Amino acid sequence: MLGRLNHVALAVPDLAAASAAYRDMLGARLSPPQALPEHGVTVVFVDVGNTKIELLEPLGDASPIAAFLEKNPSGGMHHVCYEVDDILAARDHLKQGGARVLGDGNPKIGAHGKPVLFLHPKDFFGTLVELEQA
Ligand code: CO
Repeated sequence: MLGRLNHVALAVPDLAAASAAYRDMLGARLSPPQALPEHGVTVVFVDVGNTKIELLEPLGDASPIAAFLEKNPSGGMHHVCYEVDDILAARDHLKQGGARVLGDGNPKIGAHGKPVLFLHPKDFFGTLVELEQA
């Protein structure tokens, strides 16, 4: 079921500063910032060849990463995203196994224009897991 690692997401308090550090200090190639109001974040993708790093900054008052940044004011690793071939089959399989799917349980369209779901971190050893249909 599990495919390749699509990205690792880092929550950051200042997307411009984080982008500048990745671009200027690490010499990374970055996507333009992309506002995703439905997800409450603005994202920049860093291309690191074998996968991507997703830099996340809160967008709006009800951002799902606001509480994370309150606990981790300088930022930190927020989630990992794995690819799956069939997100609905993956969801049903995981729910049967007792995993909790966040939100209403239905996929949303993510930053790459593909359906995504999030799984409760308590079911995956403290790490928030995103699934993206490849
Ligand atoms: Co993500």
